Amino acid sequence: MTFEEDARIVSRELDRYLAESLAAGKPVIRQAPIERLVEELELARHAAEGGLSGEKLAGFLRRYLESTTRLHHPAYLAHQVAVPHPSGALASMVDGLTNNAMAIYEMGPAAAAVEFFVLNWMLAKVGWVPSPSPRQGTAPGAHGGGVLTHGGSLANLTALLAARGRVAPQTWATGTPADLAVLAPAESHYSIARAAGIMGIGRNAVYALPVDSGGRIRPEEIAGVWRRARADGRRPFALVANACSTAVGLYDPLEEIGAACRDLGVWLHVDGAHGASALVSPKLRGLLRGIELADSTVWDAHKLMRTPTLCAAVLVRDATTLEGAFEQDASYLFHDKERPGIDFLHRTVECTKAGLGLRFFAVLAAMGERGLAEYVERQSALAAEAHEYISRQPGFSCPVAPQANILCFRVEGSDELQLAIRDALIATGTHYLSTAEFGGRRYLRIAFMNPATTIEVIADLVERIRQIAPR
Ligand SMILES: Cc1ncc(COP(=O)(O)O)c(C=O)c1O
Repeated sequence: MTFEEDARIVSRELDRYLAESLAAGKPVIRQAPIERLVEELELARHAAEGGLSGEKLAGFLRRYLESTTRLHHPAYLAHQVAVPHPSGALASMVDGLTNNAMAIYEMGPAAAAVEFFVLNWMLAKVGWVPSPSPRQGTAPGAHGGGVLTHGGSLANLTALLAARGRVAPQTWATGTPADLAVLAPAESHYSIARAAGIMGIGRNAVYALPVDSGGRIRPEEIAGVWRRARADGRRPFALVANACSTAVGLYDPLEEIGAACRDLGVWLHVDGAHGASALVSPKLRGLLRGIELADSTVWDAHKLMRTPTLCAAVLVRDATTLEGAFEQDASYLFHDKERPGIDFLHRTVECTKAGLGLRFFAVLAAMGERGLAEYVERQSALAAEAHEYISRQPGFSCPVAPQANILCFRVEGSDELQLAIRDALIATGTHYLSTAEFGGRRYLRIAFMNPATTIEVIADLVERIRQIAPR
């Protein structure tokens, strides 16, 4: 079998899979026990025999696809993972085959050019100065910079390393100073506390910022927390704001937070992993008003930009700060050479690095900026409509009105009941949603990622929940 013949088989099977998923012809989720799947997929036999190609490949793929979680199913309502645009999937295949590990330019000039372009496109959306190419020389005044990484968690860590590099550049030689602190609301994604742990700052040095009833930072309280940290003998070097929060999808007031951070000389990091995608929409970008005051932000294209996993951007207002995040020697990589392009190696944890930009670029070029904006607007509007609908149902309530495409709600009853409802829905495979804790209570949670989800899907969901948990 040639590559083209096998690729035809794969695209034929995926096409059927897409149609089946979109038509809700199969369960959105089906979790067979892992031992059974290892058996059913005949993994040991295929590994021993080899030759997984042609119709044998088709058979394997059909069984594999039967046990996937179907993100294209209109009742996929669970996690903030993109329902990928097929053009993005094709780009993943191109990257898989070319395998240009482009952290150094010589290992992937085209991939590096795409990443450079995509980062500059994002920098411009944030309101920062895009980066000139090194061959154009450094533009007068500061310009932004960035790098694509494998996920928002790694991106958050990278941004906080850049922040640490600004206050404690000697860290790479002497270790993390014991007096550093981070300010962040409890609503922050867990990757922030984890980054503090990885950096050796420790979870206890993450000072919780007071929040309002929606879990949003109260900017007027920032100076007080900063003073408390100082009184404890700590140097708060970074403040993390959410745009938007993971649990309920609300945006922190970035303009006021930015002003407070400037007054205090604290690095502002905006975690826009999910919500920075609103920047593409002229209607919604006001939710991020003030983001240009930040020092760094992260933006996951593999969440709301229809891009296959993974493609996360770390963006900084001043490119030189990102260069300060890392400091390593590797004689086989870092040496003087002809530089027709850019090495991203200095800006990232990773050494071998996939050409992540292509999968986002392919979606951007297929849907166009306008198409992406319309998608983000549609998903937010649907969340607002679902909020109105669910709030009207007797026995149902929502903790906050959504600002993004995330909606939390609960049914009258205990936290255990919410979990039991989710389990029952998953068991039948009709709807797949997640849950989140907010304000000390457990909520059912919908992330409207799928452009095929409609309000009828939500009405059907409510009906099924009534059958599972009659009042
Ligand atoms: C606000 C926020 N930050 C960071 C992350 C982590 O991103 P990733 O899952 O790509 O590591 C998430 C994931 O849901 C998130 O919602």
